Amino acid sequence: MAQAKIKQPRPIIIGNWKMNGLKASVKEVRALDKAAKAAGRVGADMMICPPATLISTLAAAAKGSKIAIGSQDCHMNASGAHTGDISAEMVRDLGGKAAIVGHSERRTDHGESDAMVLAKAKAAHLAGLTAIICVGETEAERDAGATLRVIGKQIKGSVPDGATSKNTIVAYEPVWAIGTGRTPTLAEVAEVHTFIRKKLVARFGDDGAKIRILYGGSMKPGNAAELLAIAHVNGGLVGGASLKAKDFFGIISAC
Ligand code: 13P
Repeated sequence: MAQAKIKQPRPIIIGNWKMNGLKASVKEVRALDKAAKAAGRVGADMMICPPATLISTLAAAAKGSKIAIGSQDCHMNASGAHTGDISAEMVRDLGGKAAIVGHSERRTDHGESDAMVLAKAKAAHLAGLTAIICVGETEAERDAGATLRVIGKQIKGSVPDGATSKNTIVAYEPVWAIGTGRTPTLAEVAEVHTFIRKKLVARFGDDGAKIRILYGGSMKPGNAAELLAIAHVNGGLVGGASLKAKDFFGIISAC
């Protein structure tokens, strides 16, 4: 297989703080930087996506470190009459390097469709941000045997033309594994990641083999090593266990 010749992409571990964190949480970024520097060589790229209120503060604290800062969402337009929203351009202006788009909590809480996620990913690209595009099936969809069909539809509908290994990361987050302490079996994770890889290679050729595919959903220091060892798992998107530098670095150290 041509794919086997291509080097596995360097992993990235991304913390999604969700609606958690106050100004004092900057200490976690400092602690993470300290831990990474003390460890010397770190086997993964590191990113934290705090609430929008903290992007600027954390970007300043992370200056001179290997920790990148991103946002948890961005609007599909660069500016305009959209009360309460933030644009990709604004994220970039604050020192952000990436935007998560299409997280299942936004797909559910804010009714975001594949078409909206696609538009947001395009907006992120236009502003020079990496789009971290999330996909994942619900428990009912998995029970109905529809997992790959759902993921295939989301990938097709949410990943824009022009996606490259530099401007795009895909995150597979089974909705039922988020914040529940439950994870799919390693074989189930392998099946979905291999499926996503095939879709990306079919659409983007050799560069599709370099787009990082992250697993997300109840990843912790205790299960990170086995999840990260699976073929085509190129890192993690971490919620709860990213809030404390000690746990988060425990996951990073598993790479
Ligand atoms: P948990 O790690 O808390 O399950 O959250 C995963 C997630 O939704 C990251 O985006």
